[in-house]
Amino acid sequence: MAVTREDVLKWIRAYAEVLAENMEYLTELDAQIGDADHGANMNRGFRTVLQKLPDNEDKDIGTIMKVVGMALLSKVGGAGGPLYSTIFIQAGKTIDGVLEFELEDWAKALEAATTGVINLGKASLGDKTMVDALIPAVEALKEASQQGLSLGEGLALSAKAAEDGMIATIPLVARKGRASYLGERSAGHQDPGATSTFMLLDTAAKVWANDC
Ligand SMILES: Nc1ncnc2c1ncn2[C@@H]1O[C@H](COP(=O)(O)OP(=O)(O)OP(=O)(O)O)[C@@H](O)[C@H]1O
Ligand SMILES: [Mg+2]
Repeated sequence: MAVTREDVLKWIRAYAEVLAENMEYLTELDAQIGDADHGANMNRGFRTVLQKLPDNEDKDIGTIMKVVGMALLSKVGGAGGPLYSTIFIQAGKTIDGVLEFELEDWAKALEAATTGVINLGKASLGDKTMVDALIPAVEALKEASQQGLSLGEGLALSAKAAEDGMIATIPLVARKGRASYLGERSAGHQDPGATSTFMLLDTAAKVWANDC
């Protein structure tokens, strides 16, 4: 059972919709500890992604992912744009030139994406960033793949791990990005980037599970 190119396209389109629906929610989270632009940034980025997809839907999965990453880089400034761009570009490099992939490949792709985000932003687990959703999700995917679980099971476990990581950011004091300027006052608020990252992986779990 594999994730096909059509599944990947469905996932990207579904995530764009999730972001549009949650634009105010993500902005509210960013208003608490940042500059209230995360929802608008992500929505603007994925509007551009949607415009780029029709010309690229016949390409391989890696190329499609890289197109998404480049669109985000060109349209989303600040910290979030380059970090999200890295997720797609690194994942695309890992699963390049294929028309479908398995759970094991997705585990490797998300691991490369996470390493890319860490190399760029220098955040560690517990710094109250998107890394707090990514690392547990990668661990869950690797474990599921090693245990020979199905694609659907692995994706559901990774989405749950990302959700737990997102919730775990609430009591943390931010050590990276704009939120870190608040120091102790950043505690008690959920990190917006970890929230949008959970949504990304949750959308993958929901969309891709329908086909496996
Ligand atoms: N150094 C970093 N490493 C990983 N993630 C980061 C880093 N800095 C910020 N983030 C993530 O980016 C999110 C903010 O994204 P947003 O789109 O609001 O960009 P921004 O306003 O330019 O960023 P910031 O508020 O950090 O200056 C944060 O919630 C956090 O998850
Ligand atoms: Mg912001």
